[in-house]
Formats: sequence, C-alpha cells, structure tokens
Amino acid sequence: MPRRLPPAGGRLLLAAQVLWRSRAHKVTPFVGRGNVATVATPGHKRRDQGRTVRWVTVPGLADVERIALSCTLCPLATGRTTVVFGEGNPHAALMVVGEGPGRDEDLQGRPFVGRSGQLLDRLLLEEVDLERSEVYIANVVKCRPPGNRDPLPDEIAACRPYLDQQVSLIAPRVVLTLGKFATQVLLDTTEGITRLRGKTYPYGPDGTVLVPTFHPAAGLRGGGEVVAAMRADFVRARQALGAPR
Ligand code: URA
Repeated sequence: MPRRLPPAGGRLLLAAQVLWRSRAHKVTPFVGRGNVATVATPGHKRRDQGRTVRWVTVPGLADVERIALSCTLCPLATGRTTVVFGEGNPHAALMVVGEGPGRDEDLQGRPFVGRSGQLLDRLLLEEVDLERSEVYIANVVKCRPPGNRDPLPDEIAACRPYLDQQVSLIAPRVVLTLGKFATQVLLDTTEGITRLRGKTYPYGPDGTVLVPTFHPAAGLRGGGEVVAAMRADFVRARQALGAPR
C-alpha cells in the first residue's frame, strides 16, 4: 500500500509524536487511517492475536531525507547548491554531528568531504577502529551558511527537527559532536568547547552518550596539541560505545 503522509511540517510533527508514543508505551507503531491489518504474527502479544488493528507506517530516515531535500524553511535554502542531509550507516552505534556544510560539502551534497573530513576519517579509523561507512555523519544545519558563517538561531530552529529525527531513527549509542557549535546546540549551553570536551554527557531518553570534541578544522589549524585532545576524545567515544546502555 502506498504511503500517504501529510505535508512536510505535519509529517515531522507526526513522526515525532509517533516515536515518542511508541517508545513511551512500548507498543508497535502505529494506528491510523486507511491501513488495516489482522495481527497474527507470533511476535505479538497473545491478546492481539486475530484482532483487526488499523495501522500506518512510521516515516523512516529516507522519508525524512526526502522532505529535507526540498526544504525551504529558512533563507539558507536560497544560497545552497545541494542539501547535505547526512550519510552513513542508518543503524550506526556512533553518530557524528558537525556544524554545517562547507563549500566542498555544498557542491557534493555529502558531509565532511574536504580536509576536515579527511582528518575525521583518520581519527575514526585510528582511535575508534571504525570506517567512515560504519558511522553516520550529519550536521546541525543541512545547507551551507554563506561564507561559512555560523548558522543563525532561526536557521538552527528551522533545521533542528531534521537532526532530532536522525538521532531518533538511528538511535546511536554515542553522539560525537565536532566543535563548539554542534556541542552547544545539542547540550543547550553557551559554555566553551575547551571546558565542555574531555567529559561525556547523557543525551536524550534512550541512554545515548554525547562526547564533545574539537572541530577537525580546529585540529588542522591548531596542530599537535588540538589533535592529541581530539584523539583522547575519540578514545572516550570508543569506550562509551563498549559500555552498557
Ligand atoms: N564542517 C562541518 O561542520 N560539517 C561539514 O560537513 C564539513 C565541514
């Protein structure tokens, strides 16, 4: 049966509500108009067997991406070449969150493909023993801010549901935030990255751990000391990946 979803804003709200409800009540999502099924699978509780239930499909990562790719919710839409939604393993235990696409990313539609990305890939491999393809990489904003300026509060607010959906749907064990900007947004703080890094933080209701580190661009600028601190943070992420939820 084809998916019939409400318009973009409603869809995100809908998805958020559904995810929240299904997690809170530990039920199989979810009930809605149009789709009717008789529950007869062995996995369902006995009292559900043979009963007719109405259900609809929960939007997945591909649905959220499809919506984001034509997003015009903020002025960054007018200056972009491509929307950089994010990429990687949709079931990743480690999700990496940067600030926003730069020039190379805007042109290619992929996150962290420039020099910063090369450093990121190297540290992931050397300190976490993970290939780029094994993690999921996204940014706080999905469109390039002009001249690589910091995204503005309205732009972050418009884009935030996409990132929240990505975190919800991927449900990573660890979120590694790259740089002051992504860390401050996700931890909802104005504290500087030098004070924030070096520790882990609980993130969200599902036992996810947030590990802040410097942005790779700072590593490229700052040299050995910054990269050494990043290595320590990546090791912290690796340890958090191994810890029970
Ligand atoms: N810097 C970021 O924060 N994100 C990218 O995707 C590239 C550079």
